[in-house]
Amino acid sequence: MRFDIVTIFPGMVEAGLAEGVVGRARGRGVLDIAVHNLRDFTTDRHHVVDDVPFGGGPGMVMKPEPFFAAMDAIIARRGQPGAVVLLTPAGRRFTQVEARRLAGLGHVVALCGRYEGVDERVRERWATDEVSIGDYVLSGGERPALVLVDAVARLVPGVVGDDQSVEADSFGRGLLDYPHYTRPAVFAGMAVPEVLTSGHHGEIRRWRRQQALRRTLERRPELLETAELDDEERRWLHEWAGTGERPE
Ligand code: ADE
Repeated sequence: MRFDIVTIFPGMVEAGLAEGVVGRARGRGVLDIAVHNLRDFTTDRHHVVDDVPFGGGPGMVMKPEPFFAAMDAIIARRGQPGAVVLLTPAGRRFTQVEARRLAGLGHVVALCGRYEGVDERVRERWATDEVSIGDYVLSGGERPALVLVDAVARLVPGVVGDDQSVEADSFGRGLLDYPHYTRPAVFAGMAVPEVLTSGHHGEIRRWRRQQALRRTLERRPELLETAELDDEERRWLHEWAGTGERPE
């Protein structure tokens, strides 16, 4: 999987890619990630990347020319990408479904905006997608780009050691994750749920599915509308609703 990230803070992005699952996959060559300094694509002596907004108003707007030059260079050197994502709080909300789609494209370019925004012509010419990572405003698209790369990269075969753990993740089936425990069995006066130490694998699976379902019902009930549920899970939900039993 190939990523190209265009930013005025390449150091911030490189730092975010250096360690962990993504860093290791990059080291093994499973991920080919290039970070491009937007200022390298300016032609003036001072490498200016922003300018005042037409129509007036506060703040600065990122100029179109460096982005256009960066995209031309990326396509020439690295090939035609499957998607060009502009990170912006005005974009569509990033989800696991979106991460899966991007992972299937093989080559994704991320454009990081700063200041008040990016000249609209960058979006018009280059962006296939505009993505927000949540309903809050960050000071730039660098951290959102790192979030996107992490979520997409995890879905690329060979990036996460254990494919099963990717499948079991929260949102893998559209549900929140169940609680996890490790040793010691009793800690700070709190015991691990008995079922987990029982050795009954069927019971453990059932308990985990119930916990995931209860958590989702309590914290993110809207996810149940699109989650992949089997008949038994639907029955449990029905029972909990019928008895008025509160998920713990
Ligand atoms: N840039 C600033 N805030 C952002 C957000 N929430 N998502 C994506 N890009 C952003």
